Amino acid sequence: MLIKKAIFPVAGLGTRFLPATKAQPKEMLPVVDKPLIQYAVEEAYAAGVREMIFVTGRHKRPIEDHFDMTFELEVALEQAGKAELLNVVRSVKPPDMECIYVRQAQALGLGHAVLCGQRLVGNEPFAVLLADDLMVGEPPVLQQMVEQFSEWRASILAVQEVPAEHTRRYGIVDGNPVNDRVVDITRIVEKPAPEDAPSRLGVAGRYILTPGVFHEIATQPRGVGGEIQLTDGIASLLRREKVFAYRYKGQRYDCGSKEGWLQANVELALSHPEVGANFRGYLKSLSL
Ligand code: UTP
Repeated sequence: MLIKKAIFPVAGLGTRFLPATKAQPKEMLPVVDKPLIQYAVEEAYAAGVREMIFVTGRHKRPIEDHFDMTFELEVALEQAGKAELLNVVRSVKPPDMECIYVRQAQALGLGHAVLCGQRLVGNEPFAVLLADDLMVGEPPVLQQMVEQFSEWRASILAVQEVPAEHTRRYGIVDGNPVNDRVVDITRIVEKPAPEDAPSRLGVAGRYILTPGVFHEIATQPRGVGGEIQLTDGIASLLRREKVFAYRYKGQRYDCGSKEGWLQANVELALSHPEVGANFRGYLKSLSL
């Protein structure tokens, strides 16, 4: 496998989702019946990743517990003959998947969070998944990116076209088109004002990065918002290595925002095998 390790930065403060995120990470917010972090871990697993590195903060317990064995629950389900539910619980962590936790003592920014994974990643390319960006794609978005990586052997950032008035929410890239999905990046800017944005291609929460990025992040001063920005590390990396943007095939829900999270719940509920049909009927009955 080309990409064996993934970093999940889950140490952010999640202020946009207070009070839900007061005592739990936003990555534990469920969409229909699964926490956001599980969607992201499943996406990484589907792309061949087996070593999941969680960069945690104050509320690390719920995430560790979620990917741990729940002995009492499994015994209770087994005794009750609930084989299907037992399977649901057990499949959260397949036996060949390893979960490792590293602590980011202070939320100093996404770049800093990624740097916390350096020793565990070592000298190989790796993925970064931001679980609050819920991605629905077929094949799963990270798998599409691993396929791109196998072709370009360089860092790849997932991008999408964003409305001009939203450039302040994203890292925005500029570059030369290689084909209809791939851009050879020449510049990347964190959260620019619309008038300063070099394009409307915004980075979504999926990255494949070469290990050279660690050195670049480590030498960054604090950037936008006083944080150590991943975008700034990637901007430095661009001076030494090629970095590509990839327009993924699929749908992204910004579940770090209330509106995006609500949309994800409605759309994933509609296609859910258990509740989809009834939920559709319910929505129709609202006759908004
Ligand atoms: P966000 O920019 O969404 O920040 O982080 P946040 O603090 O989580 O949320 P708001 O804006 O206050 O609501 C993007 C990703 O980077 C992680 C977050 O957990 C999220 O997955 N992150 C951010 C860290 O792990 N550490 C940090 O210091 C900052």
